[in-house]
Amino acid sequence: MKEEQIIWAAARSALESSQKKNRRNGSTGVRHWELFEKLLHVFVWCLKILGFYGKGIENALSIDVNKLNLEFPNLPKSFEQLKILHLSDLHIDGNPPIVDSIIAKIKNEKYDICFITGDFRMENHGSIQAVFEPLSLLVNQINAPLGIYATLGNHDSYLMAFEFEKMGIHLLNNESKTIQLNNEEIHITGIDDVHYYFTDNAINCLEKSPLGFKIALVHSPEMYDIASANNYNLYLCGHTHGGQICLPGGKPVFKHLYNGSNYFKGLWKFKKLTGYTSTGCGTSGIPIRFNSNSELTFFTLHKEKEELES
Ligand SMILES: [Fe+2]
Repeated sequence: MKEEQIIWAAARSALESSQKKNRRNGSTGVRHWELFEKLLHVFVWCLKILGFYGKGIENALSIDVNKLNLEFPNLPKSFEQLKILHLSDLHIDGNPPIVDSIIAKIKNEKYDICFITGDFRMENHGSIQAVFEPLSLLVNQINAPLGIYATLGNHDSYLMAFEFEKMGIHLLNNESKTIQLNNEEIHITGIDDVHYYFTDNAINCLEKSPLGFKIALVHSPEMYDIASANNYNLYLCGHTHGGQICLPGGKPVFKHLYNGSNYFKGLWKFKKLTGYTSTGCGTSGIPIRFNSNSELTFFTLHKEKEELES
């Protein structure tokens, strides 16, 4: 592990121990997860009494496959038709059967690179051990020649970094990687979670990234404005689960965002930045969904036609 990553791990460890939410807006409220869990138990009990719980589990196991073509004026020609598999919010230990659902959806697809934008664990505290076996099964079935890159979410622990490295997942903790094809390159920047674990390094990393075509991987959309100000082209994130439990019509009860709440779901645009907020593959809190489908997403990148013709 590089020196910068050892420093990152020490800082993340301290933040995880503090039980505070360290956010860009300065809020440092305590995470009252014990109270939240009690409220969830009451909610589950109500759903079971009303006969809705089984349907919620069935909904959560059904994963949509969304495919989008995105155009960019400055995409290097060597990366024309780069195909990205984007997974987010696996929360994989809370609902291991989603592994089979995801594998079934990706096994006949061809893609070049895979991005996973955080929240591997169901809870935001406690053991991480149950994450690794189902995640390893999934990673072994991801066939991405240019690699698997990931960021951590607010449910994740810095301790995952060591196992991920063994699995072949390139975890980006406030750092950028350059990918080269035929003497051309693009840059991938991965930011540690900013919903609970924001540090100035998140902003510094976006500000110091290389020039050229740039993709930001962040757990939540909450850094969209900083990414835009630093000329990122594509911003991929998740975190919101599209609400997970929504009112009929898909209106979320909670978005869990302190910034960028307009970008809580799907494709969005801010100035020249194109963003996508995945509803995620898994669920947190309770393994159910209503009026908000799970998804995995394929993006195919293209150079804007005018540029190709010139
Ligand atoms: Fe999540």
